Amino acid sequence: MLSIFFILVVHIFALPYGIDYFFILLVTLGLIGFSIIYRITNSLTYLSSRIKLITTKNLTEKVTGIRSQDEIEELATSFNNLLDRMHLAFEREQQFIADIAHEMKTPLAIMRSSLEVSLSKERSKEDYKKVIEEAILETNQLSLTLKNVLDLAWSESPNEKIKMIPIKLSDLLEELCDIAEKMALRKQIIIHTSITKHLAVLGFKEKLAQALINIIENAIKYTPMKSSITISLQKDQENAVIVISDTGRGIAEEDMPHIFDRFYRGKKTEKVLGSGLGLAISKSIVTLHHGYITFDSTIGKGSTCTITLPVI
Ligand SMILES: Nc1ncnc2c1ncn2[C@@H]1O[C@H](COP(=O)(O)OP(=O)(O)OP(=O)(O)O)[C@@H](O)[C@H]1O
Ligand SMILES: [Mg+2]
Repeated sequence: MLSIFFILVVHIFALPYGIDYFFILLVTLGLIGFSIIYRITNSLTYLSSRIKLITTKNLTEKVTGIRSQDEIEELATSFNNLLDRMHLAFEREQQFIADIAHEMKTPLAIMRSSLEVSLSKERSKEDYKKVIEEAILETNQLSLTLKNVLDLAWSESPNEKIKMIPIKLSDLLEELCDIAEKMALRKQIIIHTSITKHLAVLGFKEKLAQALINIIENAIKYTPMKSSITISLQKDQENAVIVISDTGRGIAEEDMPHIFDRFYRGKKTEKVLGSGLGLAISKSIVTLHHGYITFDSTIGKGSTCTITLPVI
């Protein structure tokens, strides 16, 4: 570019009145340069003034009016895309907080009113005992919900990934099968197991155990007495594949798309104790371990949960 300019200057000076032409060229180039810089700074000033107006309260606002078809317009588009993603994340968090508040508010209100009613007049020892037992049940449910919420927050924290260590998955599965047998005893459910030895993954032992226990717990919870559950661990190429199969009531088609949603409980689950966070936690932990989790279910026949984790 500079060499072209110098060649041009040499040729202009060779012309009669060359010096005049040279000054005209200089002034023209100066004007073009000035208009380009003016346009860029103008767009940047406009962009920055729009960005300053955006707060957490108006994430739906967009940076509009930049049609320069250059890098500035590209920057504005990227910024708008970032705003969209932030808006989605914010909405999700707000919904989560609202759900937690609702989930805690209802049992607390019930507990408070039944305690107040029981205090409103003199009652028998049995009546007091019943109210206290109900209050204990509600507080257990509340602390379970709180624990689940904290677990969910932990597994969604991006800083945790760096602390992963090798886990002997086969040994962990063996331990969990023992726990499953104890959990299933009350309902006389038989646990069949098939565990491939010496498989390991990178991650967090306690958290993985919790992700799997949540699924095993569901299998037991939603399966009738005296039936059976199968837990298996196999290697498939570079993955460890854990399959937990039950012979329970199955998951309705309309529930299927929502079972991993926070606080979602199936349409017919009201009578079974739970907060609807178990599978959301499992999914979040499995995702943190670079794995994935799927469900396959036939109503009245049972459900099969498959968890795939990369082995090391
Ligand atoms: N093995 C299963 N068989 C039938 N339904 C299931 C099974 N696993 C999950 N579900 C359905 O998916 C819903 C969500 O499960 P999730 O584990 O997240 O919540 P929960 O079991 O209701 O409560 P929590 O696990 O928080 O105590 C359940 O309410 C139930 O309707
Ligand atoms: Mg559950």
